[in-house]
Amino acid sequence: MSLRLGDIAPDFTAETTQGTINFHEWLGNSWGLLFSHPADFTPVCTTELGKTALLKGDFEKRNVKVIAVSVDDLDSHNKWVPDIQEVNNVVVNFPIIADQSRNVATLYDMIHPNASEKATVRSVFVIGPDKKIKLTLTYPASTGRNFQEILRVIDSLQLTANYQVATPADWKDGDDTIVVPAVSTEDAIAKFPKGVNVVKPYLRYTPQPNK
Ligand code: BEZ
Repeated sequence: MSLRLGDIAPDFTAETTQGTINFHEWLGNSWGLLFSHPADFTPVCTTELGKTALLKGDFEKRNVKVIAVSVDDLDSHNKWVPDIQEVNNVVVNFPIIADQSRNVATLYDMIHPNASEKATVRSVFVIGPDKKIKLTLTYPASTGRNFQEILRVIDSLQLTANYQVATPADWKDGDDTIVVPAVSTEDAIAKFPKGVNVVKPYLRYTPQPNK
């Protein structure tokens, strides 16, 4: 069965390019980004893993641990990593799971047989410190992911976990936010001292509360 938002991210133990990892233990109190790529030594994946490595500081700043997975074995991963590093001029600084048994791919429903019998699709799972799934995305093999969008969603998830706000279309860190419907306008005015702009009774903007 496919995983849904709010489900506990399935735990597993797996061999990775950084040794054996127990997923939940490895996550600790951090947020997590688990993402799959269809196969080693493929062009789009080479750019994606390089981009992820280049964004190390952006993930660290948000307390997000990153881990990649494909159904290739450890020997293949270890032979491919130097190519990723050379092409993107970066050190690959996160673990890549060797999932030749398809254990992780099956747990996270990353193989979509009508797309490919063998390879994983490009799945993205963002996991909160409570180990619950906060975001899922699924891209086809032919489309590389937008990692700025992944960072943007993480910003929204982390903000809305702590304040009674939601984020509007195309929101990015620093933009105005929306007061959630559960908060009355009267309460919102008290709760958000930077101000509340009432556009409709149900659409109330307030400056980002943690800025
Ligand atoms: C790639 O990563 O470049 C790729 C993988 C599978 C199909 C198409 C592209």
